[in-house]
Amino acid sequence: MNRRYRKTIIAGNWKMNKTLSETRAFAEEIKDMLGRPKWCEVVLCVPYVNIPAAVRLFKESRIAIGAENCHYESHGAYTGEVSAEMLKELGVKYVIIGHSERRQYYNETDFTVNKKVHAALEAGLHPIVCVGESLEQRELGVTMELIAYQVKAALAGVPADKMRHVVIAYEPIWAIGTGKTATAEQAAEVCESIRVVIRKLYGARVARAVTIQYGGSMNAKNAAELLAQPDIDGGLIGGASLKPADFTSIVNDANQE
Ligand code: 13P
Repeated sequence: MNRRYRKTIIAGNWKMNKTLSETRAFAEEIKDMLGRPKWCEVVLCVPYVNIPAAVRLFKESRIAIGAENCHYESHGAYTGEVSAEMLKELGVKYVIIGHSERRQYYNETDFTVNKKVHAALEAGLHPIVCVGESLEQRELGVTMELIAYQVKAALAGVPADKMRHVVIAYEPIWAIGTGKTATAEQAAEVCESIRVVIRKLYGARVARAVTIQYGGSMNAKNAAELLAQPDIDGGLIGGASLKPADFTSIVNDANQE
């Protein structure tokens, strides 16, 4: 973390978990635990159907609400889809774009990721842009090139003045939901390389101000070490964000003055 130049953001990604009643129970439980974190922004990205309730329920605990995806058009004949504009009107602040599960199961490509980043910014949302390599790609030794390519493709056409709304999340695919975390060194190395890419694209001032998160089996035990790395400005947390105590513990680690 480096709070002098950029925001620390801890974001939960609930994925396809929690019904409305479970969302209510989570809100009730975390309310007293979390307090009002001063040094980091806390976000919960929840399933679409839980968004209106979540915005209401978490207002008091100062947790911002995010969505897990959006469409790249503002409206139209796209059965089953939800636009960034629709999310904005509900009070959503962040939206995860290009999560590896969407790339893997729903044909999300670097091209659609880029279109969605533009749509999110246009609607006034903060995109959390996910990038990450598979185990095969890591073993081939192409991680840095691949991540640089993913970042460049996602940000194509995004002007420098919009970059303060963009968050990048480095999520190595082999660490997601596997209990296998990247070591702090591995995560720090890639997050640093992402900042170098952004520096080349937008200059030092923009690069310094961009929040870069790590995601992939981040939990109450390993969060502090990961967050201690200067280029890791927060976490995108799956499994551990479903449990109020674990999520609170990670937020506390990020909220150290
Ligand atoms: P886990 O924390 O469950 O590994 O998930 C990470 C993730 O995919 C967050 O977007």
